[in-house]
Amino acid sequence: METFYIENSYIQDGIKKARQSSSGLIIRQKEPRNLETPLDEVDSFLTPTELFYIRSHFPIPKLEPASYQLRVDGAVRNPFSLSYRELRDMPSETRAATLECAGNSRVFLVPQVEGAQWELGAVGNAEWTGVPLRALLERAGMEEDACEIVLEGADNGKPKEPPVPPVPISYARSLPREKAIRREVLIAYQMNGRDLPPDHGYPVRAIVPGHYGMASVKWLTGIYAVREPFQGYWQTSDYGYWDYLDARPVRRPLGEMKLKSEIARPRVYETLAANQVCTVFGAAWAGETEVTEIAVSTDGGRSWAEGEFLDPAQRHAWRRWKFDWLTPKQPGKYTLLARAKDANGEVQPDQHDQNYGSYVITHPLPIEVFVENPTGSSS
Ligand code: MTE
Repeated sequence: METFYIENSYIQDGIKKARQSSSGLIIRQKEPRNLETPLDEVDSFLTPTELFYIRSHFPIPKLEPASYQLRVDGAVRNPFSLSYRELRDMPSETRAATLECAGNSRVFLVPQVEGAQWELGAVGNAEWTGVPLRALLERAGMEEDACEIVLEGADNGKPKEPPVPPVPISYARSLPREKAIRREVLIAYQMNGRDLPPDHGYPVRAIVPGHYGMASVKWLTGIYAVREPFQGYWQTSDYGYWDYLDARPVRRPLGEMKLKSEIARPRVYETLAANQVCTVFGAAWAGETEVTEIAVSTDGGRSWAEGEFLDPAQRHAWRRWKFDWLTPKQPGKYTLLARAKDANGEVQPDQHDQNYGSYVITHPLPIEVFVENPTGSSS
């Protein structure tokens, strides 16, 4: 089947304007800070902390480790509070996990939609150290009928997008019980071997591997078990999608990340020499499964060839890949695409699913490049 992808001129405007903050990140919004990773500069399995994207809805709350308390409460037999020191003294785990913002690649939607115009870099892969959430829930004695765990951050305010709540609200998200008790969900205090930086949730944040980034609540101060599904702003008004129940649309919270791949190099509108090997680099990730194949097209989706993975399959972490492309002799504009397959046999969809609104943009993203012959003439 032939697939054709629409060219997108918004990307060109965005790239030139947004680059770059003094930290090397691409500015999408200055305050609260929404900064994007320049993915073409990421060369390693772990994204360097200073290049890791930042997505915050409110200003950073000031939390001091000396007075920090994490409250574990709600549908539990033994509610308790934990100091920063007590948390750090508990047995910890370190694991790599990819975080992707659910709105990553929004700039590729045609027609253009509201919201931060993320390109490719609202995603990163880091190593996180912390205490499994499960250990805290066990200590608290979670009640049998608790169905979700609400994670609450210390940051708060009034979101700009309607419906605007009547009072300031804190950033809070819930996790289904089955996910919350899985060993991989961490109450983390370190990122890539160092204490969390303020932008990434210092002193303590949740890390929910396999779920979109919005689940990994930063500046975490509260963990509450609840008996009814939590209906907070960040999982109904925002970060929700349309599902169907008996053919009727119902709103559900976003959760597990969908299979996706991206091309990091060459960059959009990069100029390449004709008849030369250009190595295309990228990364692919999935939610609760593994990426098993990567296909690359250099002709806008008419034909596909297999790429080669640079990292082994590891649940919840991305796999970088490469593909050697002998650029055509014929100068012109070429469209590169990447499409991943996972261990369940799923492949990325051809089109964006409208039920996700401006989130979950997982169709193959067109990267247009120019091929020129060495003299620069176009014939
Ligand atoms: N946690 C709090 N408390 N406040 C926030 O605004 N943003 C969420 C999540 N956790 C957010 C939060 C979103 S939308 C994403 S994508 C990730 O944090 C981004 O994590 P990062 O900034 O460390 O990359």
